[in-house]
Amino acid sequence: MADLPIINLPLLHRDPLAKSSVIKKIRDACHRYGFFHVVDHGIPDRVIEDALKVSGEFFELPMAEKEELASDDVCKEVRFCKLEMGEFARDFLKLYANPLDHFLASWPRSPPYYREKMGIYSKEVRKLSIELFGAIMESLKLDNQTNHLQKKFEQGLQTLVLNSYAPCSESDKKIGAPPHTDHSIITVLLQSAPGLEIDNGETWKNVPNLKGSLQVLVGVHLEVISNGFYKSVLHRAIPSFGDSTTRLSIASLHNLAIDEVVEPAAELAIDSEDGSSRMYKGSSLRDYLKHLASGEKRGFIETIKIN
Ligand code: OGA
Ligand code: NI
Repeated sequence: MADLPIINLPLLHRDPLAKSSVIKKIRDACHRYGFFHVVDHGIPDRVIEDALKVSGEFFELPMAEKEELASDDVCKEVRFCKLEMGEFARDFLKLYANPLDHFLASWPRSPPYYREKMGIYSKEVRKLSIELFGAIMESLKLDNQTNHLQKKFEQGLQTLVLNSYAPCSESDKKIGAPPHTDHSIITVLLQSAPGLEIDNGETWKNVPNLKGSLQVLVGVHLEVISNGFYKSVLHRAIPSFGDSTTRLSIASLHNLAIDEVVEPAAELAIDSEDGSSRMYKGSSLRDYLKHLASGEKRGFIETIKIN
């Protein structure tokens, strides 16, 4: 696999030529890899450092305090989870983040500044995701639907997943987060250290943690909107081996509203006399959460594919 694509965001605003070349690069990236790096994304370093700092402090709290936020209900607004299943080990905290005013009161109270710093990061990353979504819609050439979907995206749900991976030795290799695709339209990922790996066919490709970059992953619902042209990327995360520091990551998942049905864009799923080229049934984020809770073995995307 060649080097992964890097999108330089300000080029979207420089001149029409620069813009169309970035849009084309986004199209290729989403089609070939379901992934790209974004640099010069406009989120200040300080905001990023603070978000990682308060996230690390949260995971260092006594287990009893964190477990007050534990729940088996996958729809819960705030959910702490300590996952230990064979080779997989990570702690995560899932937070709903948009509209922020609505959810902020459910976020952890400690450490101090947690809500403030994480709130600032979540707003910044949300702004970025809206810009990225606009560019992605343009890259799909969805003229008729762009405005309509853009509005729904702006009113959509944002979920932060904060992950903590304890270091482990070479001999006791843990994988961290198991292979999965994200149930989002896009996910913007921030990592404190490298560890994200994406599916490379036979092997896993280590994603470098380029300085000042954030990682953008195509989620299942963007695969659906694009009628399969963009691929939701299979990925996993590994902790740092033999390193004494805990690896942290903050995934920001961007969806439409929880009950909004996502379908292949009509322009990409043409109906003709010979039938329809539509590859997926409509589904909402709630359908996915129900699928998660059901314990069904097949991946969600398999359940919505039209054969
Ligand atoms: C996730 C995820 C990757 C990482 O939370 O969905 O894929 O690097 N995290 O922690
Ligand atoms: Ni993920």
